[in-house]
Amino acid sequence: MTKELLVCVNFRPFSGQPSCALRGSRELADWLEREIECRSLDVSVERIVCFGHCSIGPNVKVKGSDFVHEATREKLTAVLDDLTASSAG
Ligand code: FES
Repeated sequence: MTKELLVCVNFRPFSGQPSCALRGSRELADWLEREIECRSLDVSVERIVCFGHCSIGPNVKVKGSDFVHEATREKLTAVLDDLTASSAG
């Protein structure tokens, strides 16, 4: 079954408030898609608009599991490693 990574790509340029896109989430989503393809994982990346945790973004969530707040490539590599291990069965 395809797992889903939900990535907030919300951008609030006029509000003066933090947003995941201002913190690089769109680049992280693109990077995740490349990594998932390289690893041949059955994982999809879904771009969503706001989890309500804007001040601790970028926010990423494995659907049905925990959030990754202040997401970085390093943190998401660990998530992908877990997904790789679980897909190996
Ligand atoms: S802008 Fe990403 S959680 Fe609100």
